[in-house]
Amino acid sequence: MTSALCVEASADNSVSASPSRRSFIRLAGGGVVMAALPLAGCSTTYPAAAVAAWQAPTEATDIRRWMLAHGLLAPNPHNRQPWIADLKREGEITLICDGDRLLPETDPYGRQILIGCGAFIELAVMAAAERGHRVLVQPFPDGEPGALELPAGRVVARLKIERDTAVAKDPLFAQIRRRHTHKGAYDNARAVPADAWKALEMAATERGLQAGAVTEAAAMAQVRRITRESFETEIITPRTYLESARLMRIGPDEISKNRDGISLMGSMVRVMASVGMFDRFEVPVRGSSNYKQTMDRWAAHETGSGYYWISSRTNTRGVQVDSGRAYVRAHLRATALGIDMHPLSQAVQEFAEVKPQYDALKSLLGMAGTGTTVQMLVRVGYGAAGTGPSPRRDVASLIRA
Ligand SMILES: Cc1cc2nc3c(=O)[nH]c(=O)nc-3n(C[C@H](O)[C@H](O)[C@H](O)COP(=O)(O)O)c2cc1C
Repeated sequence: MTSALCVEASADNSVSASPSRRSFIRLAGGGVVMAALPLAGCSTTYPAAAVAAWQAPTEATDIRRWMLAHGLLAPNPHNRQPWIADLKREGEITLICDGDRLLPETDPYGRQILIGCGAFIELAVMAAAERGHRVLVQPFPDGEPGALELPAGRVVARLKIERDTAVAKDPLFAQIRRRHTHKGAYDNARAVPADAWKALEMAATERGLQAGAVTEAAAMAQVRRITRESFETEIITPRTYLESARLMRIGPDEISKNRDGISLMGSMVRVMASVGMFDRFEVPVRGSSNYKQTMDRWAAHETGSGYYWISSRTNTRGVQVDSGRAYVRAHLRATALGIDMHPLSQAVQEFAEVKPQYDALKSLLGMAGTGTTVQMLVRVGYGAAGTGPSPRRDVASLIRA
């Protein structure tokens, strides 16, 4: 029999429903009904405009817009796309952290937001090189935000662009449009080769960071427990759960209006939301059916060949930006090798309730009692099914001219 609610959730709670035509839905109160769902013709692909940014801009595009058109494809937490590009200075891009696109509950100091900005910078620099331009990246030209301060409205970097035909093209440029975060189930039986792990680690060590892999079965089981417990903590804590809930975009209309956040196109979740049977704002309570279903969806995130981590000895704002530059390079390398990646960030977040899991992770990675910061924890492997692009806002919406 079809399961009660055939859904699959990502670590940021994205849900895609099984496209089954006759489906059983578990009601919030506990009953089960068979729903005659109007699923025929109900597309689960994103509206074309929401993913149009993944099409290559023409070579004729002005260099700064060309760079931005690639930068905005960067991986970033909750797909907030927390960037503003100020183009008032000739030949430069001033990258500003968009204060309206932060995650103050789950990312209280904006560390992950700055990792996303770092990934944006890396892709923009690669795009410039592709068109024969060198970029001087000046991080935080007006000074770094304080360690415990949200970087709202702060200048993250100034990118000074110079024509230089001798600049080397980056071979990873070709992967920018192919890179996608794969949030579904991975093949447990397939190992990632040792030289691939090495390539991922080098993406971080080349920027002065540390990186490593967890592949041994007992240690992987520990990471699975830690990530599951930290996800549970995040969903039962009302303020952190609701931060994600407010960013859910369910169905083509909501996604078209807001090409960011957690985009849900699954048929089931759309139908349930439309008939009032899925309340995105219902915080899961232990023992409830909502809690059980939400935790059941986590299972896919306990699949894969191993975990990749990036850490740093200091946790300056510059190091956080560098972590984003390193992470996206690692993901592009993985893409080139046919390997999927999926950050699982709950355990490395700074909100108080998740500290036991953060400490457990640091202990597992041999970092207990050190000032080391784990910047990224990422599931790695081979996705059982393919994945596609996630929504993006268009270039024009980022620009302040
Ligand atoms: C710092 C950072 C943290 C992230 N944490 C998570 C996470 O906990 N769970 C998850 O499913 N995706 C996570 N992601 C991936 C983003 O959801 C993803 O990059 C975003 O939705 C855009 O999709 P794309 O990478 O396919 O372009 C994270 C990405 C970054 C850069």
